[in-house]
Amino acid sequence: MRVTITDLLEMKSRGEKIAMLTAYDYPTAVWEDEAGVDIIFVGDSVGTNVLGYKSEKEVTLDDMVHHLRAVRRGVRHAYLLADLPYLTYETPEAALESASILVSHGADGVKLEGFRPDIVSHLVTNQIEVCAHLGLNPQIHEKKGLRAKTAKAAGNLISESMAMQEAGAWIIVYELIPEEVARQATRRLSIPTIGIGAGRHTDGQVLIVSDMLGINSFDLRHVRKYEQLHERATRAIGQYIVDLRTGEFPGDENARQLSAEESQALEEMLAISSGA
Ligand code: KIV
Repeated sequence: MRVTITDLLEMKSRGEKIAMLTAYDYPTAVWEDEAGVDIIFVGDSVGTNVLGYKSEKEVTLDDMVHHLRAVRRGVRHAYLLADLPYLTYETPEAALESASILVSHGADGVKLEGFRPDIVSHLVTNQIEVCAHLGLNPQIHEKKGLRAKTAKAAGNLISESMAMQEAGAWIIVYELIPEEVARQATRRLSIPTIGIGAGRHTDGQVLIVSDMLGINSFDLRHVRKYEQLHERATRAIGQYIVDLRTGEFPGDENARQLSAEESQALEEMLAISSGA
């Protein structure tokens, strides 16, 4: 059974936390799906985490489709969400065209950044399920860092959240906002809230998989590293080089032999051809 919006709304009403993680490729999608992640998200963070881009703004719709298709092949259970990349949803018409492409390649819903109730309602009217993203919006804000730091800004964020819900967004991601603001918004909204760097009181959490598995070597306050894959992979690759140079690898168990009969025949054939 695939996770649906209804399942996620029910989780909110039961007070059961929603687990969301980014994935950019097939094997990661399989791990996450098997582990029971509720929402698997192909974020535009694919740009800086996988493609080596300097900014998420470089990510194109084609990049998203390529990674979404790989993730789709690995997801059987989770709700599959995909990001609308930078400049692909400037107008309601452009947003519908871009979102329809993502949906046609397997997304169950799309996420967009910023306060755009006009875009949300156009997409929802056209049967596209939409996740809003408020707080820090990397596609929009040049400067990273905490948002909604004053009572006024927090009040605005809560009003914008209500308007996005009103427009038809079915879930909201909050990035880098104070815990108290996320708590107040979560209490007021009937749709689920998902936090990243937004404290403990949202209905669920999302992390970038490369951060929580330690594929990235840097540390971020909002991340708990459940693995240290950067160190482990570098160590494993270093050991491979050592084994290769010391003759430890390939070992007997890694090699394949001719049968005794074929080996004898080869010897004879080579002897004849070399005139020995
Ligand atoms: O692209 C992404 O990974 C995101 C998360 C920060 C939610 O938007």
